[in-house]
Amino acid sequence: MGKDVIIACDFSSREAALTFLDRFSGETRKPYVKIGMELFYGAGPEIVREIKRREHKIFLDLKLCDIPNTVKKSMSVLRDLDVDMTNLHAFGTIEMMKAAVEGLTRPDGTRPLLVAVTQLTSTSEQRMRDELLIDKALPYVVMHYAGNAQAAGLDGVVCSPLESPVVHEGCGAGFLTVTPGVRFADGAVGDQVRVTTPARARALGSDYIVVGRPITAADDPVAAYRRCLEEFVG
Ligand code: C5P
Repeated sequence: MGKDVIIACDFSSREAALTFLDRFSGETRKPYVKIGMELFYGAGPEIVREIKRREHKIFLDLKLCDIPNTVKKSMSVLRDLDVDMTNLHAFGTIEMMKAAVEGLTRPDGTRPLLVAVTQLTSTSEQRMRDELLIDKALPYVVMHYAGNAQAAGLDGVVCSPLESPVVHEGCGAGFLTVTPGVRFADGAVGDQVRVTTPARARALGSDYIVVGRPITAADDPVAAYRRCLEEFVG
């Protein structure tokens, strides 16, 4: 599987998202696009079909977490949107993740890639201990959640690039690491905590980097995207 840069298209309206994507119409490589809660709730499911018609690959990042039956049924609705990748929270347990796989699988046995959020890249180890009462080292928690996701039949996890090595060590090189928390060396960090540069994410073995504000808020988003590609894919 080739490495790729996924742009987090975090806008709250259809118009804003499409105007942003119009800037990339001259690019030979169509950017892989992440549609998260903000855009999905703001523009509705039709935005997925519309961006798909523009021939972008789509990661639908809705981070499902609920009882297994609800997640299974919701995944079978999302299945019809025909995205390339979607996700849930590993926190929901192995049973919930197995139900999600069932719901997402099409009658012909195929399905989009399914990855599990381990710990959000905005969560520090201190907060995890103090607020979530998880008294373990963060990489250990991520690795354990990745093991649960693999046991449930998922394709990979969402984690910080810093955790890609332990995930690949524990689950094998073919288990995907989709990694947000990416910042240029000379850029602002914002609310993210566990961050690295695209070049470092590549060295750490991430399969995909998910980049939002360093591209969407850049003066020249196309140049920022190209810089990510150059550093991460080469
Ligand atoms: O703007 P920024 O580069 O921080 O955007 C990162 C994107 O990745 C956001 O859309 C955020 O919701 C998402 N994400 C994350 N950490 C996770 C899972 C998803 O930052 N663990």
